Amino acid sequence: MKYFAIALLVMGVSCSGPVKESGPVKDTADQGEAEAVQTGAELYHTHCVACHGRALDGNGALAASLPLHPADLTKLSFANGGVFPTARVMEEIYGYPGKFHRGLMPEFGALLEGEKHPWKAPGGQVIMTPKPLLDLVTYLETQQQ
Ligand code: HEC
Repeated sequence: MKYFAIALLVMGVSCSGPVKESGPVKDTADQGEAEAVQTGAELYHTHCVACHGRALDGNGALAASLPLHPADLTKLSFANGGVFPTARVMEEIYGYPGKFHRGLMPEFGALLEGEKHPWKAPGGQVIMTPKPLLDLVTYLETQQQ
């Protein structure tokens, strides 16, 4: 929870009032969802494939040369009792600057900036989140086993 609050600060997040019709990711029309998945897949192949691999299983080309094996990104829901841990995954991808940075996973916040869209957190808060980050996480959610 503490980390989440930090991540929100990092993202320059603002909690808005009533959400406009564009709505959180989950409620967008199918077409919007398909576009998000497509964009997310492209972002994945640009930024993540070298370590996490084409199959998202952590066996990218660089994996063998890293002291810590990249995570299997198809098992995120499985490891979380069947629920995709959207908030945590967004934090891990976005990164924590300075002393909050941990592990080998690079921070992608700067690369995933963009127009901010509302995302509804499990607690019900609406959080304005960069669209590229949402698209990437939407794609990852479709790849769960
Ligand atoms: C330089 C190699 C590298 C790249 C590039 C990379 N990762 Fe990672 N990632 C790792 C490693 C290694 C870990 C294992 C955990 C750690 O070091 O903290 C990890 C962990 C993660 C986790 C945490 C998984 C869990 O079980 O909680 C997520 C989510 C993740 N990466 C997503 C991504 C995404 C999405 C991208 C592209 C935007 C990406 N990674 C790019 C190396 C990489």
